Amino acid sequence: MSTNNSMKKIDSPEGTLTVFTPGIGAVSTTFMAGTELIRKGMRQPVGSLTQMSAIRLGKRTEKRSPLIKDFVPLAELDNLKYAGWDIFGGTAYDAAKKAGVLHEKDLELAKPFLKSIDVMPAVFEQQYVKRLRPKVIKKGKTKMDLADQLRDDIRSTMKRHGSKRGVMVWCGSTEVYIEESEVHRNLKNFEKGLVKNDQRIAPSMIYAYAALKEGLPFANGAPNLTVDIPAMNELSGKARLPIAGKDFKTGQTLLKTVLAPMLKARMLGLNGWFSANILGNQDGEVLDEPGSFKTKEVSKLSVLEHILQPDIYPNLYSDYYHKVRINYYPPRGDDKESWDNIDIFGWLGYPMQIKVNFLCRDSILAAPVLLDLVLFLDLAHRSGLSGIQEWLSFYFKSPMCAPELYPEHDLFIQLTKLKNFLRYLMGEELITHLGVEYYADDTGASSKLQRSSKK
Ligand SMILES: NC(=O)c1ccc[n+]([C@@H]2O[C@H](COP(=O)([O-])OP(=O)(O)OC[C@H]3O[C@@H](n4cnc5c(N)ncnc54)[C@H](O)[C@@H]3O)[C@@H](O)[C@H]2O)c1
Repeated sequence: MSTNNSMKKIDSPEGTLTVFTPGIGAVSTTFMAGTELIRKGMRQPVGSLTQMSAIRLGKRTEKRSPLIKDFVPLAELDNLKYAGWDIFGGTAYDAAKKAGVLHEKDLELAKPFLKSIDVMPAVFEQQYVKRLRPKVIKKGKTKMDLADQLRDDIRSTMKRHGSKRGVMVWCGSTEVYIEESEVHRNLKNFEKGLVKNDQRIAPSMIYAYAALKEGLPFANGAPNLTVDIPAMNELSGKARLPIAGKDFKTGQTLLKTVLAPMLKARMLGLNGWFSANILGNQDGEVLDEPGSFKTKEVSKLSVLEHILQPDIYPNLYSDYYHKVRINYYPPRGDDKESWDNIDIFGWLGYPMQIKVNFLCRDSILAAPVLLDLVLFLDLAHRSGLSGIQEWLSFYFKSPMCAPELYPEHDLFIQLTKLKNFLRYLMGEELITHLGVEYYADDTGASSKLQRSSKK
């Protein structure tokens, strides 16, 4: 092993880790039930990098490729505890049954475990999620009161679970579209806004505030602004806590961030990209409302612009038509289907087409993403990292990044970044894929290069 680059010693992951999810719906219950079946040895953690992926270390000739979970100190699945809030009451079992993602057999296997997870009353505002009618929600004079109630919930749950560490990931519905405004610009304005019940403070922001005040890292699985505002960045810095977001990258956008880099890599032009979806779960119902759809649409549309860089390649990408549609279609439930029609052009401008039809399962794709985010955020926290965790861009449709940067969307650059970050954290050499040292010749040309480069 080479010199140690790591910033500080990483605290050990011993003891329980409580995972808090505002929103106990399809994604969160599929994650909870899944980890329970996996830790009992009944199912495999398919789709999870933290559980299944290996990471190459050193030169290719060294043949060192441990599993990520054996390379970095991650919390054990056995040590995960769960808690969350929703507007429907009951238990996580009721929510999983309603979501209808898992087969009856899996649901039965996970039933005792899911029944032990009570759903805490939510902080909810109708204007932010117009399609759902709440049954059990918290009442408070001000948004600061509501934040305090969430903080009480966090403290009492951590005590009950005997947890010193926790993580919160927003798995609630997509809130209506809002833009950053004065109240979000800094922590002082935000806290004033909480006390004055400022309507520009969304419920998801109240959860994020409560999490950060209670020492929990926070990630956002939906496209809402939530933690992607300067006030939360400031708070995460002050509290020395990691934050990440936004919007889990799972189905159609996952494919888009593989195909679009391919077009750019081969300098193939784009005339148009039409993306249609049918989705019949509750998420689909919420997204059928124009305000919530707008939030999702902005998130899904942002991807191509950043990958294709029309400013650098105006002849190929300055004039393409990009459209995203999500249609609520109840018969399909969580089994989303997407179609992409991509009109491209090649040599001498000759047109061609690509058609993609993905028959996926939304929450089956999202659950391992949620698991990885939980474990990596906890790792980041124990490593003393705070603020935006750009190395977790791999998991998001709209990755958060510093204000002066543009987000990195290309899936394979994101993966390289994530793995190099883990190497960096553990004091291993970064892998640049240059590879000159394998080809040293008599003239010494390669060895000169080797002095200034690695692999
Ligand atoms: N499944 C995927 O592939 C995927 C991908 C990207 C993003 N997402 C996002 O993840 C989120 C969860 O998806 P899902 O399929 O589990 O949806 P879901 O509708 O099954 O679950 C969301 C839950 O959040 C609850 N909720 C709404 N507002 C709340 C509040 N203020 N406090 C607490 N609970 C609240 C709802 O009652 C619902 O039970 C959605 O925002 C979705 O857009 C999902």
